[in-house]
Amino acid sequence: MTIKKAACIGGGVIGGGWIARLALNGIDVSVYDPHPEAKRKVDEVMANARRAYTRMAVKGLPKEGKVTFAGSIAEAVKGADFIQESVPERLDVKLKTIAEIEAAAPADALIGSSTSGFKATDMARDMAHPERFLVAHPFNPVYLLPINEIVPGEKTGKAFVERAREVYTSIGMKCVVINKEIDAFVGNRLLEAAWREALWLIKDGICTVEELDDIMRYGFGLRWAQMGMFQTYRIAGGEAGMRHFMAQFGPALAWPWTKLMDVPEFNDALVDMVATQSDDQSGQWSIRELERIRDENLIGIMEALAKAEKGKGWGAGELHNAYVKRLGKEAGKKSSKAAEKAKAEKPRKKK
Ligand SMILES: NC(=O)c1ccc[n+]([C@@H]2O[C@H](COP(=O)([O-])OP(=O)(O)OC[C@H]3O[C@@H](n4cnc5c(N)ncnc54)[C@H](O)[C@@H]3O)[C@@H](O)[C@H]2O)c1
Repeated sequence: MTIKKAACIGGGVIGGGWIARLALNGIDVSVYDPHPEAKRKVDEVMANARRAYTRMAVKGLPKEGKVTFAGSIAEAVKGADFIQESVPERLDVKLKTIAEIEAAAPADALIGSSTSGFKATDMARDMAHPERFLVAHPFNPVYLLPINEIVPGEKTGKAFVERAREVYTSIGMKCVVINKEIDAFVGNRLLEAAWREALWLIKDGICTVEELDDIMRYGFGLRWAQMGMFQTYRIAGGEAGMRHFMAQFGPALAWPWTKLMDVPEFNDALVDMVATQSDDQSGQWSIRELERIRDENLIGIMEALAKAEKGKGWGAGELHNAYVKRLGKEAGKKSSKAAEKAKAEKPRKKK
């Protein structure tokens, strides 16, 4: 199943990433974001994403989809078969936005929410047709990172879950449908745990933000990118594998190796400490420059993984191979709008 017309409601960090992924897959996108500078920001994200795709899509790219800015949610979602909501993470804002989307969208349009933690059941509580609504949680940068946690609500229809899987897969994503609905799903549960622990380590003066990042990126961060947690620990158990690993490190669960039961107080002093150290670490680059460095690195990592297993690819690298191939196959084809227009036009008779 492919997308004919997409609408993105919210064009910030995540909305901008969705717009870029969709447009670079040749899909026309209608955007609504009330921020006076929304277009400038989206244009800047698009420029970085275009740069990344030009570098990554070695077999070519589809003709870019058209991005248009609408004056209201109703205007943006009109005629859209796929709608992605990426407004700020406040339940009242989500509820109001979803109501406006539902009032104007085609009755069978799929509606995905980028929320980082709210349950689809809670966000869909006032919907007349909650069966077509689900959480589709991406990670930043949405145009490069393939993962998409699909979290259906109590009333999400099975057919829409399948449709979501097909639609997001068609734009190069790896969908994982989460079994049970919980706040923050799986990825953010893990990240929240690491983030809390990291804030303790900085607050207590154990290490600086730069040292903490170095411990990650020179060490287990490299392992996680290609094998995740459990495959990595299986190897760490030696020949006896996971059972030995668990026997060796199981007792540590009861030792004071974590402060996760306790939450560091979120106050100005903590924010100043972290922000100042972060300026020392990275202040020489603008955010857009850092995004470009990140994108180059991510593509490099995926390309390295794409060569693994005799070129079949490993993990994200296997998907990368398929994605680059698919983008190449679409190269040269007209954008969906242009294709529709061409189809509608009658063939001209030769004189
Ligand atoms: N930043 C991340 O790393 C990340 C990752 C995954 C998911 N998310 C989720 O994505 C969503 C958006 O987060 P973000 O980081 O892009 O935030 P953001 O602040 O960068 O963007 C939010 C955008 O929504 C716009 N907006 C505000 N009210 C609106 C309305 N009524 N209609 C349309 N647009 C409106 C704002 O002008 C802004 O541009 C949140 O639910 C967040 O939890 C964020």
